[in-house]
Amino acid sequence: MSVTADIQRLRTELGKLASFSETPAPAVTRVVFGDMDLRARDYLKTLFAEASLVVHEDPVGNTFARWLGRGKSLSPIATGSHCDAIPNAGRFDGTVGVIGGLEAIRALQRSGFEPQRSIDLVMFTAEEPTRFGIGCLGSRLISGALDSSVGDTLTSEGRTLNELRLAAGFSGRLIDVPLSPGAYGAFVELHIEQGPILDREQLDIGVVTAIAAPASLRIIVDGEGGHAGAVMMSDRHDAFLAAAEIALAIEAAARATGSPDTVATTGVCEVFPGAINSIPSQARLDVDVRDVDLRCRDAVLAAITAACDGVEGRRGVTVRLEPINADPPARCASPIVNAITTACETRGLRHRTMVSRAYHDSLFMSRIAPTGMIFIPCRDGISHRPDEYASPEAIGRGTEVLADTLAALAG
Ligand code: GLV
Ligand code: MN
Ligand code: MN
Repeated sequence: MSVTADIQRLRTELGKLASFSETPAPAVTRVVFGDMDLRARDYLKTLFAEASLVVHEDPVGNTFARWLGRGKSLSPIATGSHCDAIPNAGRFDGTVGVIGGLEAIRALQRSGFEPQRSIDLVMFTAEEPTRFGIGCLGSRLISGALDSSVGDTLTSEGRTLNELRLAAGFSGRLIDVPLSPGAYGAFVELHIEQGPILDREQLDIGVVTAIAAPASLRIIVDGEGGHAGAVMMSDRHDAFLAAAEIALAIEAAARATGSPDTVATTGVCEVFPGAINSIPSQARLDVDVRDVDLRCRDAVLAAITAACDGVEGRRGVTVRLEPINADPPARCASPIVNAITTACETRGLRHRTMVSRAYHDSLFMSRIAPTGMIFIPCRDGISHRPDEYASPEAIGRGTEVLADTLAALAG
């Protein structure tokens, strides 16, 4: 059985997918349920149909494209990733796992392989937190990590998740999204590393053994607005300056754990009313904190709470801290890790085990299925930027390792 990825086709299809973007190339921005997301979904569904996959969409828009196996009573296995892209992103984050997953299935089909277990290619809704403020929305719901009430509580520009998914054509009840543990016999996700290790060490494949624990929170500072000329400095309660102090305290807290694995980012700062001659009366920070070690991650969260209390007292502002998520890390399942490693060795590829510092839908799929991840190098480790790049050859190698792994798991 010779399984070979069609590198040219991978490149063409990733290029076409990148053209569905709200920002001009090379940047890609594709916000879930936006016009570009819906057009990208239509394009992908055409590709799925061409490969004779049976497509099913759940009420939140998670899309399942099934290659039917011969053993009807056996639990299926699955692969997949996401196609939404944060503002000003690149073209490879997530999409490599969807187009690569599809090409892995097509390569197996071309080789004459007939799976015992069905193989699902899953495209998850809103892995990125851009629209609803929480990452991995689709896979969180699938795994039962998120309650269906979020349909009414998560909002974007004044419209609820339920309103927006219905407008995008996804009806039905969110309560029907979760899959039971055991619904899949295995889940394997192909993804770019989004870090520098594979590129630096000139390796072909990273075999992921664990996924770091992410947390995010929103901090709202209420101060006192006023005229930028008339209010004396000594009388001010500037919400932005209080928020700035908190942001610096967050950086210090992440550095203070002493572990290079602790990272904290204040990626959003919104100031109200946002006028040059008006003292900010309110500031909002959205903060992301991660570590593979839960104790370090939680030490930073505790330090952030203390910093907010301190700033409140010193600057005469009020600070509200709203946790968004604080998820535990995930361990990849040994049988999947072994299957990926065997595929690398059989193909003579240079590989190593590694931890994923980024989160992925695999973090939540691991709650309902034995899960593993295949990383491929991306140039200089750059990601979440327009100059994100993975070579067609690297994507081809990852796709072939995925195909071998799926073949081994599907029997
Ligand atoms: C995923 O996009 C992440 O932020 O890790
Ligand atoms: Mn991403
Ligand atoms: Mn991703």
